Amino acid sequence: MKETKLWINGQWENAKESYDLTAPYTGEVIAKVAKASVQDVERAIQGAHEAFQTFKKTTAYERAEILYKVVDLLKERKQEFAEILASEAAKPITAGLAELDRTIATYQFAAEAAKNIFGETVPMDAAPGGKNRIGFTKRVPLGVVSAITPFNFPFNLVAHKLGPAFAVGNTVVLKPATQTPLSALAMAEIFKEAGLPDGALQIVTGSGGELSDVLVTHPLVKKVTFTGSGAVGMKIKEKVGLRKVTLELGSNAAVIIEPSAPIEKIIPRTVSGAFGFSGQVCISLQRIYVHESIYDQFTEAFVNETKKLKVGDPFDPSTDLSAMINPREVSRIKEWIEEAKAQGAKVATGAEFTERTMAPTVMVNVKPEMKIMCLETFAPIVSIVSYKTLDEAIQYVNQSDLGLNAGIYTNVLTDALKAADELEAGAVIINDIPTFRVDHMPYGGVKNSGYGREGIKYAIEEMTDLKFITIKTEI
Ligand code: SIN
Repeated sequence: MKETKLWINGQWENAKESYDLTAPYTGEVIAKVAKASVQDVERAIQGAHEAFQTFKKTTAYERAEILYKVVDLLKERKQEFAEILASEAAKPITAGLAELDRTIATYQFAAEAAKNIFGETVPMDAAPGGKNRIGFTKRVPLGVVSAITPFNFPFNLVAHKLGPAFAVGNTVVLKPATQTPLSALAMAEIFKEAGLPDGALQIVTGSGGELSDVLVTHPLVKKVTFTGSGAVGMKIKEKVGLRKVTLELGSNAAVIIEPSAPIEKIIPRTVSGAFGFSGQVCISLQRIYVHESIYDQFTEAFVNETKKLKVGDPFDPSTDLSAMINPREVSRIKEWIEEAKAQGAKVATGAEFTERTMAPTVMVNVKPEMKIMCLETFAPIVSIVSYKTLDEAIQYVNQSDLGLNAGIYTNVLTDALKAADELEAGAVIINDIPTFRVDHMPYGGVKNSGYGREGIKYAIEEMTDLKFITIKTEI
């Protein structure tokens, strides 16, 4: 059985304690994972702080070269790493390979961004006192970044923290999700081989609020970047004080389907948005608002397509959905469905469970206050609701406290622009599902979905300070 260690100051270190890592699909223990203590985390932060003193002096060219090398190494080990995802996260192998492709793109964007971090000149003589002065800004690294990452994209969401941090010369202490440490630890080897200086990346595995507390409150930590649940995000926000913080939290993403939408064409895409990685995606399609004139036709086609999906072994290339991340999540969503049914909702298909899996589920007759509508389900379940006017549909979407991405299908330009203006979301995706994301676009939420933006260029802004420099040309 694999036994993992902590990655501290460029060395593998034993921890005093460990925990069993269970494969979500089989329930078998696949590794004994090192459980960091508070002291281990403190040492990792101290080591990252010391590494920063030299890493901040590296050139943009040197940092880009490290990131380009990471890209090359990831390309060589794609299949092996997709198998880690299948094993520790039950991510179907085809989805795992797709995640690896995105991860490669994310590090590629970071490598390119390292060479393209610009300041601007400030026209000093625009003010009466500014004559004979030159002014310009530059972006400077912050120091140690604490990165806390979720289980759902264990390579790519780690890349969204490490890529921009290293592009600008920060160092990082990474705490991956308890369920997905193996993928993060694999990145230690990759970065070492790519030439990242020892100490610039520290990886502490384990669980428990006390580890996160150190990561978000230690005086040497200058920035916290977290992707995960809203509840944990709120706690982090309360504790970070004046430190910079980025929070990528959950959502209950919605799409509006206007009468002009080509139903047959959009069915496979909307189904994939609802059920990809069993809905365990922050921008998974959870609420579909369909114009009443096409509601029956859309719902029937959507349900038929959903019934074709195969639930099974994540290593089987024909599997569409595998196990949920743990049986507790299956029980939770089962309860939410029972509660919704008791309040009048109907199951159009799905709602079949084993201890570890759940069939893709479509609900109708739902009400906004049901948990499956107003909370983030993070499960393979979607609700379809009919509406009369676009204003009404926009109001339904905005009823939520959450707002990451929202989508609308329409070929009427003025309606698309109205939705773009009025939907309360970090991004409005016109003629596609809200689940759409490429890795250089700005990504982040409004309302309770988060704080700050990722997408390499935008993350770089959040991981640097803006420094102003002025030169007096005549003394
Ligand atoms: C997330 O679940 O927060 C990320 C979704 C994505 O990158 O596609």
